[in-house]
Amino acid sequence: MDKEKSTRFMLKLVGDVGTTLAAGLLFVGDRSGLFKAMAGAGPLSPDALAERAGASSRYVEEWLAVMAGAGYVEHDPAADTFALPDEHAMYLTDASSEYYLGGLFQGLPGFLAMTPRLVTAFKTGKGVSFSDFGAELPGSLEAMNRSVYENRLVRSWLPAMPEVVARLQAGGRALDVGCGTGVVPVTLAKAFPAATIAGLDFDARSIDIARGYAREVGLGNRIAFFAEPVEALPTDPGWDFISTFDVIHDLPDPLGAMKRIRSALNEGGTYLMVEPKVADQLEKNIQNPFARMLYGMSCLHCVPQSLAQGGPGLGACWGEGRARAMAREAGFTRFERLDIRNPAMAFYALGDPDRLAGTGLSVCRQGSDS
Ligand SMILES: C[S@@+](CC[C@H](N)C(=O)[O-])C[C@H]1O[C@@H](n2cnc3c(N)ncnc32)[C@H](O)[C@@H]1O
Repeated sequence: MDKEKSTRFMLKLVGDVGTTLAAGLLFVGDRSGLFKAMAGAGPLSPDALAERAGASSRYVEEWLAVMAGAGYVEHDPAADTFALPDEHAMYLTDASSEYYLGGLFQGLPGFLAMTPRLVTAFKTGKGVSFSDFGAELPGSLEAMNRSVYENRLVRSWLPAMPEVVARLQAGGRALDVGCGTGVVPVTLAKAFPAATIAGLDFDARSIDIARGYAREVGLGNRIAFFAEPVEALPTDPGWDFISTFDVIHDLPDPLGAMKRIRSALNEGGTYLMVEPKVADQLEKNIQNPFARMLYGMSCLHCVPQSLAQGGPGLGACWGEGRARAMAREAGFTRFERLDIRNPAMAFYALGDPDRLAGTGLSVCRQGSDS
């Protein structure tokens, strides 16, 4: 027995539990406005922060100790003040910014609350259904990506597929599958007034929220929302653009869904599959903080809810190699990794150019792996 190794491990475990608790308390800082009250305010005493945020002084004092210990805020021991550096505030305070990470904390209580259920699920091999994750889940999933979709989808991502932009500008048809609370369909409908836009998700609560958002911005009549599973994906008339954002690995039959999407595309149509940006090898992924976090979410949510639907529990970190192989099996002859810079998402444009050209030749374009 290597005593030093053992001690290192013990300290790591204790530290990791501390970090997990601090991450849980990020949720409190986000929801109770503490981070917002600190942003740009410079060094503050606990009392001053409590007053600014309208929070209890004793709680704030203890919370600041946790945040300082985790390295989320900076402590000046001489003045006994705490500051949130601008470099940290940019991820914590502005929900409309594409850098906002508050959505990640929003899901934490719900995900961790599932751990007792998982103990049983690990024994039986059965799943935990999407709806069992609680009423907060659709909002938490939305919060993780809303600001990125609103800031990036039309401005940076679609331009990587000029054929999609041209079709939607000319009044084409777009469907977002697994649309959750509808941020992608609403964003598309705003940007392409001539296009027909739809969203589909099997979670009725998410679709209700999506319909509400569409109504709020006066697009209630322009976007069709289907509260249906992917197997009910409408195929006639076909679609010029189909997207799935973080969905395929959650499905009961990922290959069947890809085949269905392929057959629902119009000639020359494009399928954008967005999946976590991870490597094919576990050894590489565990060096990557994004992938490590995704394995956690996958084990707590993606796998159990896929198993609950009778699916294979593909898991969020299935990687490009398997995605590429599955796309080929589904009959797509185009699989292009789009050259879009994003730390967490990989963008694959799929299609069937053979069908358009009628050549019968198989074309497989390889995109950038950066
Ligand atoms: C991780 S969430 C992604 C939601 C949204 N696309 C986003 O990026 O925020 C996965 C979505 O897939 C939906 N989903 C899971 N299984 C489904 C199925 N069988 N048919 C349709 N939607 C499904 C869930 O309801 C959920 O909204």
